[in-house]
Amino acid sequence: MTVITPTDIENAAAQAVAAPQDFEVRPFDAPVGAEVVGLDISKPINAADFARLHRAHLDHHVVVFRDQRVSPEDHVAFSRRFGPLQIHVLHQFQLQGHPEVLIVSNIKENGEPIGLGDAGVYWHSDLSYKETPSLGSLLHAQELPSEGGDTLFADQHLAWETLPPALQQRILPLKAEHSYLAKYEELRAKNPWRPKLSQQQVDQVAPAVHPIVRTHPETGRKALFVSEHFTTRIVGLPQDESDALLAELFAHSVQPAFVYRHEWKPHDLVFWDNRSLMHLAAGTPDHLRRKLFRTTIEGDRVF
Ligand code: SIN
Repeated sequence: MTVITPTDIENAAAQAVAAPQDFEVRPFDAPVGAEVVGLDISKPINAADFARLHRAHLDHHVVVFRDQRVSPEDHVAFSRRFGPLQIHVLHQFQLQGHPEVLIVSNIKENGEPIGLGDAGVYWHSDLSYKETPSLGSLLHAQELPSEGGDTLFADQHLAWETLPPALQQRILPLKAEHSYLAKYEELRAKNPWRPKLSQQQVDQVAPAVHPIVRTHPETGRKALFVSEHFTTRIVGLPQDESDALLAELFAHSVQPAFVYRHEWKPHDLVFWDNRSLMHLAAGTPDHLRRKLFRTTIEGDRVF
């Protein structure tokens, strides 16, 4: 349920009378992605400007808003214009006072991690383990390392469109299970600071079953929807056959020809479409600090 707050009403009133912002959308020389230059997401954005941003997101799948010196409140308010926000199960890493913001960080303070340090180490689409996976995520750079820390995005429409027709026919009717727990203990063994989940947290992340090939609800384009991180099995296939088919699809789906590699600049706010892309955190050297804030917008049931 979406709760409308007095701030939302004030924001809507300001947006209705806002002057246009003078910004440009510049596509990257890459399979996906564009940067938006000259827009301030903390200022009211009128309906025509918002429609341009929405179109850019649908066309380019990942949109980089440069130089956003904005507060978590602005980040949350902008994210909410695209839909209700999802709260991550790891409440340990919520930003204080902002449960909608997940801290993604390798920083430890007083020996304790301040955020999820190994978020995105396997290719995935955010919250695909939910009945209603995420529409999109917005990641805002707070502190960046002097080397490393890139994020890669792979176009799953291209992945689908370039599969051999016989394989397309084979997988079109199939469904697969996605589970948040699929790699949780393996990651915890490598990164012991990953919190042990309470029973309540485990109950919040019951697995979900989705079509392997999804249709984007706004553009109608088909996309592959399986990931190395969360997809555990194809429903109805023996485990060995399921493992072999998933391995083939995973390898196909993240070829360099489908990938944009984002090298972060200070104050970047990156907004990607989880219905079109998978993403991967390339990793940060342990001695360097990296901190970003993430919001996640709820999407539709997958079809
Ligand atoms: C994520 O998977 O949301 C985190 C990506 C990153 O840290 O680059």
